[in-house]
Amino acid sequence: MSRSPARSRFLDLEPALESFAQSVIAGLSRPRKSLDSAFFYDGAGSRLFERITALPDYYPTRTEIGILDRAGAEIATVLGPGVQLVELGSGSSVKVRLLLDRLADPAGYVGIDISREHLRQACAALAADHPGLDVLALCADYMQEVPVPPPADGLPRRRIGFFPGSTIGNLEPEAAAAFLARWRRTLLEGGREPGGMLVGVDLKKDPALLLAAYNDPTGVTAAFNRNILARINRELGGTFDPHAFAHRAIYCAERGRIEMHLVSGRDQIAMAAGRRFAFAAGESIHTENSCKYTVPEFQALALRAGYRPERVWTDADRLFSVHWLSLR
Ligand code: AVJ
Repeated sequence: MSRSPARSRFLDLEPALESFAQSVIAGLSRPRKSLDSAFFYDGAGSRLFERITALPDYYPTRTEIGILDRAGAEIATVLGPGVQLVELGSGSSVKVRLLLDRLADPAGYVGIDISREHLRQACAALAADHPGLDVLALCADYMQEVPVPPPADGLPRRRIGFFPGSTIGNLEPEAAAAFLARWRRTLLEGGREPGGMLVGVDLKKDPALLLAAYNDPTGVTAAFNRNILARINRELGGTFDPHAFAHRAIYCAERGRIEMHLVSGRDQIAMAAGRRFAFAAGESIHTENSCKYTVPEFQALALRAGYRPERVWTDADRLFSVHWLSLR
């Protein structure tokens, strides 16, 4: 079989993340302690998240895949031919394949991720399965402004951002709008015609269903939550006993969000990054927000950020939504 070699480029923007140590010290020094959920995803955390996505009660991943599968052909028609598809966080190769396989003559795929090795592997696999597609692995922090290069042929294209998984829910609404506004500039650059953004957003629903998704009986979510303490032990010389903290996930109806916390089971002291932190029995560390929206709420947010909410696809039970936000 003679197959032309897969075309895949790698570009390292050497993302200068706020260091884990600085972030942990700042978060644990606040009167209400917190840790940044972006730091959940080391190797162990990413594997635990993969297990979460397979849990019976964790509906978002399989529901979004179902939506992309059923609406894929229609989405591809709406996006149009010859687009440059830019994926924010390149972990979801199942999802992007459902799009790429249906897009007419895509000009290129850019996968952006902060995790170098993971990114390289995901992009190499994608390139191998799509011979002739221009694949660029861009190591960068997509929460910041990213200078996205044009496709290899240098021609300006319609640029489409793809941000699945309701990762946007980790940001509070004002930060989510600022994030979309930042990406709006990048999507307009280098585009001959304005493109837009395809975003997966978890929907508001019966709180019992939300709580079940973040409190699985097998304790995988608890292990995912506690792993951030284990990571502090591994990387920052921490002395946490992760099991001295209880996993707690609550739904805050006023803010429309799931909050995850780690609640200290007793008075205790832990070292981290050379500092000493005291925890009272019952004191919590806020580790994650997962914001939920109604369709009109998210559309209003997108409008504020300078997009036109043109189409939305949901599943029959209205658990999850995929929004097409155009820049026209
Ligand atoms: C990957 C941020 C979308 O908020 O549902 C899963 C992370 N936290 N279970 C989510 C998560 C607990 C997930 N996101």
